[in-house]
Amino acid sequence: MKEKTNKAEWLAFLDEIVTEGKLVQASFSSPRRKDDETSRKLTVRPVKLKTGVQYQFERQIDNKVFHENVAVEQLKDHLQSTMERYKQALFKTQDADVQILANKKGELALIRQGKSVKRAVVPQEHNRSKAYVLPEGEPVPFLISLGVMTPEGRVVKAKYDKFRQINRFLEMVSDVISDLPRGKPLTIVDFGCGKSYLTFALYHLLAIKEKLDVHIIGLDLKQDVIETCSKLAKELNWERLTFRVGDISDYEDHSAVDMVVTLHACDTATDAALLKAIGWGASVILSVPCCQHELFRQISQPMLKPLLKHGILKERFSALVTDAIRANLLEMAGYRTQLLEFIDLEHTPKNILIRAVKSGKTDVVELEREYKQFRDFMAVTPFMEKGMDLISQK
Ligand SMILES: C[S@@+](CC[C@H](N)C(=O)[O-])C[C@H]1O[C@@H](n2cnc3c(N)ncnc32)[C@H](O)[C@@H]1O
Repeated sequence: MKEKTNKAEWLAFLDEIVTEGKLVQASFSSPRRKDDETSRKLTVRPVKLKTGVQYQFERQIDNKVFHENVAVEQLKDHLQSTMERYKQALFKTQDADVQILANKKGELALIRQGKSVKRAVVPQEHNRSKAYVLPEGEPVPFLISLGVMTPEGRVVKAKYDKFRQINRFLEMVSDVISDLPRGKPLTIVDFGCGKSYLTFALYHLLAIKEKLDVHIIGLDLKQDVIETCSKLAKELNWERLTFRVGDISDYEDHSAVDMVVTLHACDTATDAALLKAIGWGASVILSVPCCQHELFRQISQPMLKPLLKHGILKERFSALVTDAIRANLLEMAGYRTQLLEFIDLEHTPKNILIRAVKSGKTDVVELEREYKQFRDFMAVTPFMEKGMDLISQK
């Protein structure tokens, strides 16, 4: 319902949401003055700091994000003065979503809508030091050596995305630690380890924090990155983290491996890694595919012509088909398989992580039927299938 409101009503609304702690989020948009240096958009949300709950005002100017934390005592004044600079705002509260529109004279109208907040929202930890596995502020030697942190434990601004990616990865690993075998030394291989930020992070979590008896091997085609990583592992005295130059398909150093990681390995290198993992009967597999060209070249389905005739759609669609096929084949090999969002899509489109845990239980017949139907509909012959002897002949 739309209603014109006078200032008193607007202030009463602010009073209510502030004193009763009902504000979940407010977003302001369309600055009233074109030359306003604030920003086109400003959001406010509660954050939990060591000193208690505060309200974080976030502005973005020229791709830089600025934060200002405001105590609850000053919140009403801040919201009021902020509204004076914008033409509209959306307040999400515990009771309702309320849109505020300002006309040219600065008069406000409130439009109340149903609430989009599903459950009571607990103020979040301050986003910078959120319940990360590696919290900001605590110096971590390997992150310092890799240039992600300063010796004081501050995250280097340019490496913030990397820091978040490492933490997100460790969160996902933490969830499957209990699926690794116990009572024996563990062997873990990271295929296509590259500069190995995540390989070092994995060792830090499992060997240093969890004190597990692990040997982690990073493998990559590139001699120079392997030399750099080996040197760093030596400097850290991490003897059970070793690196080797080699191609995934030719890697024969072990007869069994407990966990296989393959993050952003190119095209069918991911499939080669998944096949190795299945062959070893690895208990856990974590994989984030990278460029997926193989099926892009093969997919053909007249019914999907409106989609496939656009290169960009075909590319994204092929990547999804590739991941669906990999997940299905992993399930057929007896893995409980999940596809998870690795990091926000705004940072990279390569954001799907395949997490597979060996369960052994599987209805292969039904999975195989579904798989074949799907594969034939897309008219593809996936590399990964060719490497598996699970699929019965046509
Ligand atoms: C995009 S980087 C990813 C590095 C790291 N895993 C990460 O996520 O930050 C991909 C790496 O995979 C390596 N790679 C690609 N194909 C490979 C293969 N067949 N065998 C071993 N390494 C491979 C490349 O050399 C490169 O370093």
